[in-house]
Amino acid sequence: MPDDFVKVAQTDDLKPGQMKAVDVGDDRVLIVNLNGSYHAMDDTCSHAFAALSEGDIVGGEIECPLHGATFDIATGEALSPPASQPLTLYQVRVEDGDILVGPPDTG
Ligand code: FES
Repeated sequence: MPDDFVKVAQTDDLKPGQMKAVDVGDDRVLIVNLNGSYHAMDDTCSHAFAALSEGDIVGGEIECPLHGATFDIATGEALSPPASQPLTLYQVRVEDGDILVGPPDTG
């Protein structure tokens, strides 16, 4: 199986409660440190294409800066309107202090 994981950041770059948008191939991916575990998802809101990296992390949710929709960081699920479609999640790995992002997590 090909190793499609690419290094996008170091764990030191991202403290708990912090996030960062990175480019992975053609995709803009948001990396979030949620209480010490790393999650990766679309940076683009599923409602009207705002950059979620400009929004806020509130508990385990991320709030869109444009119209205030919230998404579950761990599952990508849309939790409040006006968004109704989930965010695509990406696989994440940590190796030797590096954060690597892989293909979309299809469950
Ligand atoms: S663009 Fe995110 S809620 Fe509208």
